[in-house]
Amino acid sequence: MNNEPWYKNAVFYEISVRAFKDSNSDGRGDLRGLTEKLDYLQTLGVDCIWIMPIYPSPLNDDGYDIADYYNIDPAYGNLDDLKELISAAHARNIRLVMDLVLNHTSDAHPWFQAARSDKNSPYRDYYVWSDTDQKYKDARIIFVDTETSNWTWDEQAGQYFWHRFYSSQPDLNFDNPKVQEEMLNVARFWLDLGIDGFRADAVPYLFEREGTNCENLPETHVYLKKLRAFMDQHYPERILLCEANQYPEDVRPYFGDGDQFHMGFHFPIMPRIYMALKKGRFEDVAEIMRRTPPIPENCQWCTFLRNHDELTLEMVTEEERQWMWEQYAPDPRMKLNLGIRRRLAPLLDNDRRKLELANSLLFTLPGAPIIYYGDEIGMGDNLDLFDRNGVRTPMQWDDSPNAGFTDGTPFSELVKGRLGYQRINVASQVNDPDSLFRSVKRMIALRKKHEAFGSSSMEWVDAGNPHVAAYIRQHGADTMLILNNLSDAAQCIRIPQEHQGSYLDLFAAHQTTIANELTFPPYSYLWLQKHT
Ligand code: GLC
Repeated sequence: MNNEPWYKNAVFYEISVRAFKDSNSDGRGDLRGLTEKLDYLQTLGVDCIWIMPIYPSPLNDDGYDIADYYNIDPAYGNLDDLKELISAAHARNIRLVMDLVLNHTSDAHPWFQAARSDKNSPYRDYYVWSDTDQKYKDARIIFVDTETSNWTWDEQAGQYFWHRFYSSQPDLNFDNPKVQEEMLNVARFWLDLGIDGFRADAVPYLFEREGTNCENLPETHVYLKKLRAFMDQHYPERILLCEANQYPEDVRPYFGDGDQFHMGFHFPIMPRIYMALKKGRFEDVAEIMRRTPPIPENCQWCTFLRNHDELTLEMVTEEERQWMWEQYAPDPRMKLNLGIRRRLAPLLDNDRRKLELANSLLFTLPGAPIIYYGDEIGMGDNLDLFDRNGVRTPMQWDDSPNAGFTDGTPFSELVKGRLGYQRINVASQVNDPDSLFRSVKRMIALRKKHEAFGSSSMEWVDAGNPHVAAYIRQHGADTMLILNNLSDAAQCIRIPQEHQGSYLDLFAAHQTTIANELTFPPYSYLWLQKHT
């Protein structure tokens, strides 16, 4: 896209390295395995991959509990394998971002070991300690299914330590300038290896202040601006992607004046896409879009349908949450914390029309889309597995034993049943022009061809029908009219006069005239480019 920053119209793809492809038959995916599969990602049309943490870790939180920030867990390979992956990806015009976990370490990290065993250790103040568990009472508990407090008593230290996630993930003390400095060094180390940026994990929680909910504090923004300034100075073109599971007005400050994050996940739009599909009406999506403030020109939202965590219902009302659970988590095993631990295809009843429609929304609403590995083929989940592991099962490459993921014994059970690898796999879809993979691939290709999709502009069109989401995306002379029928019935819509006229139907690749009235089949979508 002309002079636009690369990330504004990029298509992202999230990968669990452990679950993607095993190259050495030890049953765990690794960096070399991922490198082998870059051609596949290039075929799909991915511009940037985000890999989940690969640092040494006791894996109490799948690697988000880091024991060494300067290494790679040998199960995934070594630093040379990462360099190899980066250069092989770059050779295919694919960028790579990694997780930067600032908020906490693993309790196995030497800093924490030193801190807990000696009150006078310089590392003691790297963490947040207290003699009581009564401080910061207004901070919510995030992992409500496993944790009862944000404080855990440490026998060895003789004090409580603070943690926003599992009690095996002590929070770092960002009031300590040394901690701030350490994390800049961590960032420098990986940027020097050639990665293209970071998905910054759990950033709202860096600081604690009494009398607040300890989220999104001004101090947090001051630090994140420092991180950004450091990147701009030494590593222009690399990006920071913000994980702040918040309403858009609270994410907005993370973009600063274009001097904090380049990108931020748009969390609240995600559950509303599922609401819209279930209700067959688009008002919830429209409402959250209206509530989404403009962001600086050099920034972009990142939108998603699913990721490696539960489908979070933190950014909906209590009533909506109950409704979502009723609709999408009929089996109690599907619930996790304040969310739903299911994948895209099972959530949408493996209904091809709904899967395409959800993707149509993902690729045409404002923001750069990110696909969660396997969702492009509609793979399933495994509810027998603990916590979020149910949605982190091995990628389904083909119908050979263990899905072509490994020649060894896989680290995890695979998906069973109708969405398992015997039926749903890459090999059977790549060459089948009617497959879901091919539909997603087509959407990606079309999206990337048109600058309108990367722009921030969006205008709702009153089509006189609450079941059909109709909107204009526009950039320069490129104007798109997008129509999505969310309902299971045919719908009649009226196109206002100013939007009638001659269009190119991007999927059918033929000209079409949009007149006053139009009947639209159930769950169908149209991407139309205005003739100028
Ligand atoms: C983020 C990650 C999640 C992890 C948590 C703690 O929310 O997405 O997987 O458990 O941070 O690091």
